Amino acid sequence: MNDDRDKAPFMFGKIASGPDFTNREKETTQLLQNFHVGINTILISPRRWGKSSLVKKVTEHPRNKDKNIRYCFIDLFNIRTEQEFYEAYVKELIKVTSTKWEERVEQAKKLFKKIIPQFTVGLNPDNDFSIGLDWKEIKKAPEEILNLAETICKAKKIKLVVCIDEFQNISFFDDPLAFQKKLRAHWQHHKHTSYCLYGSKRHLLMELFSSPSKPFYKFGDVIFLEKIKEQYWVSFIKKRFRETGKNILPSQALRIAQAMENHPYFVQQLSQQTWLLTQKECTDKTIDRALQNLLDHSTILYQRETDNLTNNQLNFLKAMCDNVKQFSSAASISTYKLGTSANVIRIREALENKEIIDTVGSLEFIDPLYKTWLIKVYFRR
Ligand SMILES: Nc1ncnc2c1ncn2[C@@H]1O[C@H](COP(=O)(O)OP(=O)(O)OP(=O)(O)O)[C@@H](O)[C@H]1O
Ligand SMILES: [Mg+2]
Repeated sequence: MNDDRDKAPFMFGKIASGPDFTNREKETTQLLQNFHVGINTILISPRRWGKSSLVKKVTEHPRNKDKNIRYCFIDLFNIRTEQEFYEAYVKELIKVTSTKWEERVEQAKKLFKKIIPQFTVGLNPDNDFSIGLDWKEIKKAPEEILNLAETICKAKKIKLVVCIDEFQNISFFDDPLAFQKKLRAHWQHHKHTSYCLYGSKRHLLMELFSSPSKPFYKFGDVIFLEKIKEQYWVSFIKKRFRETGKNILPSQALRIAQAMENHPYFVQQLSQQTWLLTQKECTDKTIDRALQNLLDHSTILYQRETDNLTNNQLNFLKAMCDNVKQFSSAASISTYKLGTSANVIRIREALENKEIIDTVGSLEFIDPLYKTWLIKVYFRR
C-alpha cells in the first residue's frame, strides 16, 4: 500500500511543484512582473489554496535567469517573537546571498556595525548554521537589520525579493503595531529589495494591508488567490491517471473537482484516494468509495470539531449545507432556529473566527470535506 502511495501521481500537504503543479498562469505572470519590476506583493487566500506553491514556482521560473535577482524565504509558521523574526530574517538573508561559511562570517562583519550576530554551526557549517542576536543591541539599532536586504543589494549589485510566508503571525508579537511601523518606515525606502508577504488569515491580513490607519496600508499590490478552476482540474486529473496507465472519464474527473469544490488540497487528496482504488478503469463506484474512505478517516477530527460548536452554530451550518443564502430572512430564522437577525451576525462571526467558514466571493466552508461530512454523516443521523 505504501509503495503505491509513493507512486501515486497526486500529492497534498506539501509544496506542489513540477508535474504536481497545475495552471496558475495568470497569477504567475503577475507575480513575475511584480518581482522583476520591484513592486511589493501581498498574497492572500484561505488555507491550502496554493500560496506557498505559487510563490515557490514563480521564484524558480526560467524567466528569472537573466535578472540578477535572488529570492529569500522566511516562514513565520514557528516564529512568535520579534527577536525570533530578526534572527530568522538575518540568517536567511545571509544564507541566500553568500554560499560558503567563511564568506558568510566575513559578510556579516562588514554588514553590521552596531549589532554583533553570533553564529552557531552544526556538522556541516555551509548548510547548517543559526544566528543569535542580542535583544539589547537590536533595540538600539533595529535599522541595521531592517535595512539589511537593501544594504546587501547595494554591496553585491543584485536585486532581492524577500518572501515572508504566514505573515499574519506577526500579530503574536508583543507590540505588533510598533513592529509594523518599524518595518514600513524602513522598507518603503528600499529600491533594490521588494517584499512578497503572504498568509491565510484573511481578516487579519486585510486589516493590516487595507485599513488606512495601519502602517502597511497601500504597501503593495494585494492579490486574492483564487481556487483552480474545474476545467484545469479535469485535464490535470485525466493526465495524471493516463501517465500512470489508468483511465478516468472527464465526467468523473469533474465529479472529483466538484465534490471538493475545486479546493486544491482536497481535490488532490480525493484524486489520490480514487487513483489508489482504481485498478485500470475508474468507475463512479470507485469515487464513491474514495470519498467514503476520506470521510471515515476524518470522522474523529470532524466529530471533535462539531462537539465544539454551539447549537446555534450548528443550525447555521445546516442552513449553509441546504444552500440557504438569506440567513436573516424570517423564513430562515424560523426554519433553522437562528434566534434574531442580530444573533445571525454573531453566529456567522463566531464561525469565521473558528475558521470553519469564510466569505470568498460568497460564504463557504473552508474545508469542503467537512461540509460533505456534515451532510452525509452528521445531519443524516
Ligand atoms: N498549482 C497547484 N496545482 C496543483 N495542486 C496544487 C497547486 N497549488 C496547491 N496545490 C495543492 O494544495 C496543497 C496546498 O498548497 P500550498 O501549501 O501551496 O497552499 P498554501 O495556501 O500555502 O497553504 P497554507 O495556508 O496551509 O500555507 C498542495 O499540497 C497541493 O496538494
Ligand atoms: Mg503556505
